[in-house]
Amino acid sequence: MDTIIYQSNEVPAAAAQIRAGQLVAFPTETVYGLGADATNDRAVSHVYEAKGRPSDNPLIVHVADVETVEKFATPLSDSVKALMKHFWPGPLTIILPLKPGALSKTVTGGLTTAAFRMPDNQKTLELIRTAGVPLVGPSANTSGKPSPTLAQHVYHDLKGKIAGILDDGPTRFGVESTVIDMSVAMPTILRPGAVTVEALEAVIGPVKADHHHVSKDETPKAPGMKYKHYAPRAQVEIVDDPADFAAGVNQASAQADTVGLMATDEVLSQLSLPANVEAFSLGTDIASASHLLFAGLRHFDLESNVSLILAQGFEPRGLGAAYMNRLDKSAGGMHFNSEQ
Ligand code: TXA
Ligand code: MG
Repeated sequence: MDTIIYQSNEVPAAAAQIRAGQLVAFPTETVYGLGADATNDRAVSHVYEAKGRPSDNPLIVHVADVETVEKFATPLSDSVKALMKHFWPGPLTIILPLKPGALSKTVTGGLTTAAFRMPDNQKTLELIRTAGVPLVGPSANTSGKPSPTLAQHVYHDLKGKIAGILDDGPTRFGVESTVIDMSVAMPTILRPGAVTVEALEAVIGPVKADHHHVSKDETPKAPGMKYKHYAPRAQVEIVDDPADFAAGVNQASAQADTVGLMATDEVLSQLSLPANVEAFSLGTDIASASHLLFAGLRHFDLESNVSLILAQGFEPRGLGAAYMNRLDKSAGGMHFNSEQ
């Protein structure tokens, strides 16, 4: 199958593909999603096949209005309505209990709840409205690889497997949405994202954070949490103290392998790099670092043959919580040791 790149003025053609049961990747403010008609079971099962995604890992249902959520979910509580009012469209995914049989178990992975989100991207909202159906949308990467922040990343992973990609340039945030479970008594964050705990608590009061690392045998609340994620070919190690990059460069210069560095301009400007060390800038701060994290991991995967990537750690607060959650997964929990 040829994968068509739709420009942002070609929404009607992309919507026609969705209606025909085809897969079309779509832009959002976080990462690109792999879209299919959420009410078409065959189309949804093709999403799992194209990504190589385990079928017990449920999908987010993307909507362009709250009424669509009300069709599928049990009556919305005041807190849920307040969240939608404050954060939609935007990077917040809300888990809600479903009316029995409202969505197929291909979408929900057999759970009695489903995840809903209204993305903040005009082209995708237009795509949903024109297609006239909600879209399932996992991140549009091969399962286990870093999420795509450019249409080109999607093309690299899924060309020949999907009908099209609606290209709207680079995504704004670069890390996926915050996932909050509102189907339980105490609202619980299952995945940190650009909507922070502090912002959520300002709207609905106390919120629990439950996104610790889940081992393989545990049953995680968000099934996606148990799989290794965001992993490039190279080993990734987190550099907790930026001052340790100097030791990292030193260790690298004593060996033959090529090493990649991911750090802010400020950190990089203080290093002199030997020939076998390549740098990728994370920009100036945690906002640019979150925006560039996945692109950097992919850069080293595709455009160089580094065996080790040393990536800068940030304070796990605010947007830093989302950044460190993703970096920790791509590193498999490994931290750089400056004394080896
Ligand atoms: O920013 C985003 O959320 C992107 C864009 C494309 O919208 N989407 C995305 O989807 O990251 P995905 O499938 O890669 O991640 C969805 C996460 C997974 O960890 C999944 O297990 C969890 O949400 N999830 C989905 N439905 C759930 C449910 N009913 N209960 C608990 N967790 C659920
Ligand atoms: Mg994903």
